Amino acid sequence: MSSTNLNKAVSPEAGPDATPQAHDSASSKSSGWAVFTFFMIGFVGSLLAGWILFPELLYSQKNQPIDFNHAVHLDAVTDGCDSCHYFREDGSFSGMPDLAACEDCHQEAMTDNPEEVKFVEEYVTPGIEVPWLNHSKQPDCVFFSHAAHVQGADMSCASCHGDIGTSEHTRVYEENRITGYSRDIWGQSISRLGKPGPGDPRPMKMNDCAECHEDETGHKGACFQCHK
Ligand code: HEC
Ligand code: HEC
Ligand code: HEC
Ligand code: HEC
Ligand code: HEC
Repeated sequence: MSSTNLNKAVSPEAGPDATPQAHDSASSKSSGWAVFTFFMIGFVGSLLAGWILFPELLYSQKNQPIDFNHAVHLDAVTDGCDSCHYFREDGSFSGMPDLAACEDCHQEAMTDNPEEVKFVEEYVTPGIEVPWLNHSKQPDCVFFSHAAHVQGADMSCASCHGDIGTSEHTRVYEENRITGYSRDIWGQSISRLGKPGPGDPRPMKMNDCAECHEDETGHKGACFQCHK
């Protein structure tokens, strides 16, 4: 009795309902596509923002004061990298060259190359050191010794700095707006997936140093070895 009543109560509505139901599933299919399309637009959009816009916003850019050509100079000097980047008697590393490394050849401009003219007029003649930007600069709390690596462990410059010796122009210096560090420390790849190309400088986050130390010596090292 109650079941027939229920059927009766339901069936009159079930009839007319059949058509709207078919209609509903078609519209939910198309709204499913709409949701999917909007999702993909949002997804691809945020990927693009992450890969392109984020680095644009994260890093500010500066040029070196002078466009320096390593390749031309390696042909001109007699002692390779050591002519400008050398170890002093006490084992400390000269780092960025000062004017003394340039003056012998650039007392006056040899050519009308605008970069050379600017270098001579603005720096050599008045005796002002060039404020080179240092792509590899570590935070002040880090201790790094070139002697331990180059003289002690016999590593080549290229194993950390890549192929800078063949470069014809300086690179744009990118500074992380949050940390103030050079982009080279994190590495050029935002995701840090994949290995740097053969000529690229190695990324130098704490773990990059530690990973190589573990490979080479079997342990990552104590905090005090790398921190002042
Ligand atoms: C004639 C002098 C000279 C010679 C020779 C020379 N350099 Fe340089 N180097 C410079 C100057 C000037 C700079 C600063 C401008 C720049 O970044 O290119 C520099 C910068 C660098 C830096 C950049 C530091 C940083 O991270 O910003 C590295 C690394 C370097 N040199 C490595 C080398 C290596 C390796 C060689 C040998 C293959 C070499 N240099 C030979 C003059 C020289
Ligand atoms: C052994 C000699 C020698 C020394 C040392 C030397 N240069 Fe040069 N430099 C040259 C020659 C040769 C050229 C190529 C001139 C040309 O044809 O433009 C040159 C070109 C340049 C130019 C022109 C643009 C370019 O890079 O091609 C700049 C700038 C320059 N040198 C800066 C420096 C600085 C900075 C130092 C010191 C760290 C230095 N040079 C040390 C010989 C030297
Ligand atoms: C184990 C990796 C490694 C090797 C090998 C290496 N460097 Fe560096 N280099 C660095 C790091 C890290 C810095 C930043 C040091 C800092 O800020 O305290 C640096 C900084 C520099 C600078 C910038 C000035 C300075 O002293 O901070 C120059 C120039 C340079 N290196 C040249 C060379 C040359 C030339 C060689 C080969 C003789 C070489 N490097 C070998 C890792 C390396
Ligand atoms: C590609 C390999 C490699 C990378 C990258 C590297 N190192 Fe090293 N480091 C070595 C080797 C090899 C030694 C020598 C180990 C030994 O003599 O026992 C060494 C030694 C040292 C030492 C000297 C330890 C001592 O007391 O004598 C310090 C400090 C150091 N590294 C700091 C750093 C820092 C900081 C970085 C990153 C900015 C770094 N290293 C990146 C390979 C590397
Ligand atoms: C192999 C060398 C090495 C060792 C060992 C090491 N660090 Fe570092 N550390 C670095 C370098 C290089 C940086 C800077 C680059 C970066 O931010 O990763 C750094 C950065 C840091 C920072 C961030 C500071 C800043 O201003 O960005 C902290 C905190 C730190 N280390 C703590 C430690 C502690 C704690 C230990 C011991 C468990 C340790 N580190 C061991 C090389 C080392």
